[in-house]
Amino acid sequence: SFGHVKQAPEDPILGVTVEYNKDPSPMKVNLGVGAYRTEEGKPLVLNVVRKAEEQLLADRSRNKEYLPITGIAQFNKLSAELILGSDSPAIAQKRVVTAQCLSGTGSLRVGGEFIAHHYSGPKIIYVPAPTWGNHLKIFPLAGLETRTYRYYNPKTRGLDYQGMIEDLRAAPNGAVVLLHACAHNPTGVDPTKDEWEGIRNVVRNEKQQLPFFDSAYQGFASGSLDTDAWAVRRFVNDGGETFIAQSYAKNMGLYGERVGALSIVATDPAVAARVESQVKLVIRPMYSNPPTYGAAIVANILSNRALFEEWKVELKAMADRIISMRHQLFDALTARRTPGNWTHILNQIGMFTFTGLNKQQVEYMTRDYHIYMTLDGRISMAGLSSRTVPQLADAIHSAVIK
Ligand code: LMR
Repeated sequence: SFGHVKQAPEDPILGVTVEYNKDPSPMKVNLGVGAYRTEEGKPLVLNVVRKAEEQLLADRSRNKEYLPITGIAQFNKLSAELILGSDSPAIAQKRVVTAQCLSGTGSLRVGGEFIAHHYSGPKIIYVPAPTWGNHLKIFPLAGLETRTYRYYNPKTRGLDYQGMIEDLRAAPNGAVVLLHACAHNPTGVDPTKDEWEGIRNVVRNEKQQLPFFDSAYQGFASGSLDTDAWAVRRFVNDGGETFIAQSYAKNMGLYGERVGALSIVATDPAVAARVESQVKLVIRPMYSNPPTYGAAIVANILSNRALFEEWKVELKAMADRIISMRHQLFDALTARRTPGNWTHILNQIGMFTFTGLNKQQVEYMTRDYHIYMTLDGRISMAGLSSRTVPQLADAIHSAVIK
């Protein structure tokens, strides 16, 4: 019987949209979920995606057959090249296994289960504190003990580099370490290049740990695909084993198509081939094989020079609009003389600003200003527009002086 089943709480991120949808106010603004909006507050389908779709529809030879368990081979090859660089030695040496998965979440889950079944080291994954809330749910269900390492320092609103290094050193040798490839969610705080090298030294040389990168924002943070892949490439190019989960939700705006990839970089091609055979055994009983449509769009864009160039321009435009929102919000708070230091709005990168506002302040802003955001004080800058900046600045101002 199921009579005992308790009502579950809404998801801390997706539940914000549920509340937003219920609000009849015409002034409501959703800054909860990380989803890009235009200046008019509308979801954006990239032109390049429309073009790729038109090509797919025009091709009458396409059918609806099952894909292989690991998805579209060309999509996998191009996804690995996108994150690792087309000149990647690991790819040339056939040490990289890539499986098309259901966006970032699905890639993390398949990777997590593969580690839980096959890793020779401790089945413990360390994630940053704080991290994207779903990490804390994905990995335990995948069978990994999930612990945190210090990451964010609320006092400086920056990276707690010393704390992070201490915690990684104190973690067991060989533990799995989840790293955000760029544009850390929710804090918008990334290590500098020097700090990345320090982290890599501990993970690789001192502790022989296994890095697992979550790359959800390639090109979306800085506007450059290569810049945002820098840390991943440093780790892969040192020759060690690396896991990478890629998502095309943000950078191609393919949120609902659920397109992503898991890449596993092994130490030699024979191991990579055996790993691939086992990854298929993780996927088959979970969902058999991935859906075709979204990955076909991505493969179309990545394989066509003109479309690829057009994508980079549109991607940069999204990144630039978010950066401009940072300046507009900072200026609006400065103009209002809102108490506090707000420079972190300019310094944090990617989709989110971790404002430092507390739960009570967030609840007040939602109640009195119809601004919807997660209770940890994170706002999606990509949901903001020139029209809604004054409303947000008013709300923050009165929440702070209250
Ligand atoms: C977010 O953090 O808002 C996004 O990654 C969307 C999600 O699935 O949580």
